[in-house]
Amino acid sequence: MHHDFDRQALKKAFGGFPSGVTVVTTCRGETPVGFTVSSFTSVSLTPPLLLFCIDKGSDNIDTYRDADHFAVNVLAHDHANLSNRFATDMENRFDGVDWEMSALGNPLISGAVSQFDCTTHDIVDAGDHLIIIGLVVALDSNDTTSLGYYRGRYLELNA
Ligand SMILES: Cc1cc2nc3c(=O)[nH]c(=O)nc-3n(C[C@H](O)[C@H](O)[C@H](O)COP(=O)(O)O)c2cc1C
Repeated sequence: MHHDFDRQALKKAFGGFPSGVTVVTTCRGETPVGFTVSSFTSVSLTPPLLLFCIDKGSDNIDTYRDADHFAVNVLAHDHANLSNRFATDMENRFDGVDWEMSALGNPLISGAVSQFDCTTHDIVDAGDHLIIIGLVVALDSNDTTSLGYYRGRYLELNA
């Protein structure tokens, strides 16, 4: 075991854990906001809870901290372009993206494998990130194959 690991070694070790990719969305006033998130985790069935982690350096940190609702959109195998789009600085990430507003006021991305419409249940301060825990109030899901992410690359999953 290495006790004197640096940031790069930590990132590499974390990257050995494969994940899916999501876009987490909410609204700032009337403006839809969203960003790419692979730190999504299911937490609890009763009550239905999930979480994601957001970098405190994120441009939209205040929006997510103050919002009382957000949605998680699990990206499909052909959504690598959406994953890149929502991780890139641009005027409007939603331009040209097919989406609709949820009952709670969160953008839901069309063609997502799963969509979770959540109220914010708790926010935990954790180092350079916030852990945002959501209570799922509505969901939709289908059997489309998801987009995978592993060691910094997208992964073709053959479900
Ligand atoms: C595959 C992938 C997964 C990511 N996962 C996360 C994550 O879990 N948490 C996070 O804060 N940023 C994550 N990012 C980085 C953000 O999406 C990226 O920094 C984005 O530009 C932040 O947007 P904002 O600063 O406009 O809020 C991820 C990026 C990619 C490409």
